[in-house]
Amino acid sequence: MTEPDIKKGLAGVTVDYTAVSKVNPETNSLLYRGYPVQELAATQSFEAVAYLLWYGELPTDAQLAAFVAEERADRTLDENVKQAIDLVPLTAHPMDVLRTAVSLAGASDPAAFDNSRESDLAKSKRLFAKLPAMVAYDQRRRRGQELIDPREDLDYSQNFLWMTFGEIPDPVVAHAFNVSMILYAEHSFNASTFTARVITSTIADLYSAVVGAIGALKGPLHGGANEAVMHIFDEIGSAENVSPWLDTALAEKRKIMGFGHRVYKHGDSRVPTMKAALDTLVDHYDAPDLAALYDTLESEFVSRKGIYPNLDYPSGPSYNLMGFDTQTFTPLFVASRVTGWTAHIMEQAASNALIRPLSAYNGPDERHIPGYVPDAEAE
Ligand code: CMC
Repeated sequence: MTEPDIKKGLAGVTVDYTAVSKVNPETNSLLYRGYPVQELAATQSFEAVAYLLWYGELPTDAQLAAFVAEERADRTLDENVKQAIDLVPLTAHPMDVLRTAVSLAGASDPAAFDNSRESDLAKSKRLFAKLPAMVAYDQRRRRGQELIDPREDLDYSQNFLWMTFGEIPDPVVAHAFNVSMILYAEHSFNASTFTARVITSTIADLYSAVVGAIGALKGPLHGGANEAVMHIFDEIGSAENVSPWLDTALAEKRKIMGFGHRVYKHGDSRVPTMKAALDTLVDHYDAPDLAALYDTLESEFVSRKGIYPNLDYPSGPSYNLMGFDTQTFTPLFVASRVTGWTAHIMEQAASNALIRPLSAYNGPDERHIPGYVPDAEAE
């Protein structure tokens, strides 16, 4: 019998075409619909990038104005979703809160079963507009604070920060947040996006696919890494502790969160852009100690293991400086990645094939229940 060619973790397996984004580890580039992500981060709003991912082209001024008006008018947290969030115990992780809130939002949508592109676009835009309120409110209630209403005079990033902290953000902070949202938006067939495509391939609805993707993103090998980076920073404390801390962590064969990538082996194409944004935040908040810890851990780990930082490494400390609670970091990733997920959901639906791979059995040989006699009539 020939041994099956198993690719554990689907590593190196190409499963389908996508026109949404292209990751090229050889040239260290990431393109959204053909545009380098660095160029998008330098020139575009997250709203324009969301539009690009869904429609395949950047919006004209008129198209962007229409989309932005729609988004601003749809930001308010629905009362039933607010009540559902209130019911989730504070011991639950914010990702569980988000999974519940999105699930309820989907269950409340009478068009949930309409899988047409037009309906899925409307749902994608609704989730895009509503997620900031869900994320911001959950952080606030954990701090014993009230929900803050959205402001239509603020753009997406400004409003997100406003709803979380109740202050109009400094332009440096709003810009860094916008950059992070653009960089997190899309990354081809990562685990959560693939999860969304698997669910879509059964012709389930868009909300089910997004809820499943939230579950996949939660883990520390994927989106949960941005939170885990901050836990590591807290554990290490300061730059002078990096060396002994690394000695112990590596001896214990711990994974150092925020480093390594399944696809990029020579550095993540998004890191320099996010690191530049982090640098502006370090200056703005006067946080040289955090910068020293960041630089020391990076240089020591890279020189010892030759494994480079991924996007979660600069984004975790950036969200920390902005004032987000550590547990809120991965929900921020959701608010961004919902754009890529939904672009992939619509792409999968447009040329669907049920995703159903094979497995190779390595359990016990066929065996039988002692004393069982097959019923001849039923056979
Ligand atoms: N710390 C320590 N060792 C590592 C790390 C790390 N962060 N990453 C990889 N390695 C080692 C790993 O132990 C293995 O060593 P050995 O061959 O001796 O067993 C070798 O490098 C290959 O690692 P792998 O886990 O087989 O590689 P992979 O391609 O399956 O894993 C990864 C990629 C992201 C799961 C892994 O690098 C990792 O666990 N990183 C830490 C978690 C993290 O930062 N995740 C975010 C990923 S990127 C953004 C996102 O999706 O959110």
